[in-house]
Amino acid sequence: MLALSAPAPGAFGAIPTIHPFPMSHSPALLPVPAHVAIIMDGNGRWAKQRGLPRLEGHRRGVESVRAVVDASRALGIRCLTLYAFSVENWRRPEDEVGGLMGLLETFLGREKANLIKNKVRLRAIGRISALPPRARAALEDVMAATAHFTEHTLVLALNYGARTEILDAARSFAAAVAAGEARLADADTWEGFSRHLYTADLPDPDLVIRTSGESRLSNFLLAQAAYAEFVFTPVLWPDFGARELEAAVNDYRRRERRYGLTGDQVTKPGPALHSAPAPAVI
Ligand code: FPP
Repeated sequence: MLALSAPAPGAFGAIPTIHPFPMSHSPALLPVPAHVAIIMDGNGRWAKQRGLPRLEGHRRGVESVRAVVDASRALGIRCLTLYAFSVENWRRPEDEVGGLMGLLETFLGREKANLIKNKVRLRAIGRISALPPRARAALEDVMAATAHFTEHTLVLALNYGARTEILDAARSFAAAVAAGEARLADADTWEGFSRHLYTADLPDPDLVIRTSGESRLSNFLLAQAAYAEFVFTPVLWPDFGARELEAAVNDYRRRERRYGLTGDQVTKPGPALHSAPAPAVI
């Protein structure tokens, strides 16, 4: 069976290393995913079912965020990315957008001590400069206070869109070439180009979870999720907690990841596997 190596502390590689032989975990199970990314969906429906305003659903969603951050650390997940606000979400009613930004600010203010206590580094991906000044200041404050932690990373996707990220990466790459800091040939490989993504210092997600019964990616980590496993659960985000996260991780661990190889190649290590292509090859 193939096993992905756990990245060394503070050294998340963009491309995981493939080991042709089993690691220390049970040969029947994959290791706990190093990176779990979640599309937190269903806050509005949760509120509607209870005759509550949509913002109450988001408020309860923040409680789930807290529970899932703690649970992922307890499970040994090194990196957790949460899709908190998309580039498309600005088109929601003004009071909902304002409410979400207020919740973000409150969350950051309340969680700062907890993240520091638990040695969790906070990162953000997205066009952060366009966030309202107070939310942005709160974000930058917590990111600076936790930047030195290496064991666990919480990534908030804010004003994030995967296509926007690719545009930003292309612009960043072109600027680096123009400045003589990169060569056009660097973009011959994904490894070279992906250094310009927001996620350059993060591993690709192993597992992407979406709550609320929807089965789509909604412009989330389109490039990074190329080899991710997916779990779609009907549970609405405010009802998603430690138990649901553990169930999704257990589901993931029972799967077989092939990276374009055959089932036999990944289950029966033989000579062919020693010259196996890198995971980015289909
Ligand atoms: C999708 O549910 C959820 C969002 C657009 C926002 C997610 C935000 C939170 C969980 C709270 C804020 C987060 C942080 C990190 C402080 P929806 O509103 O689209 O639900 P619906 O599809 O049922 O209407």
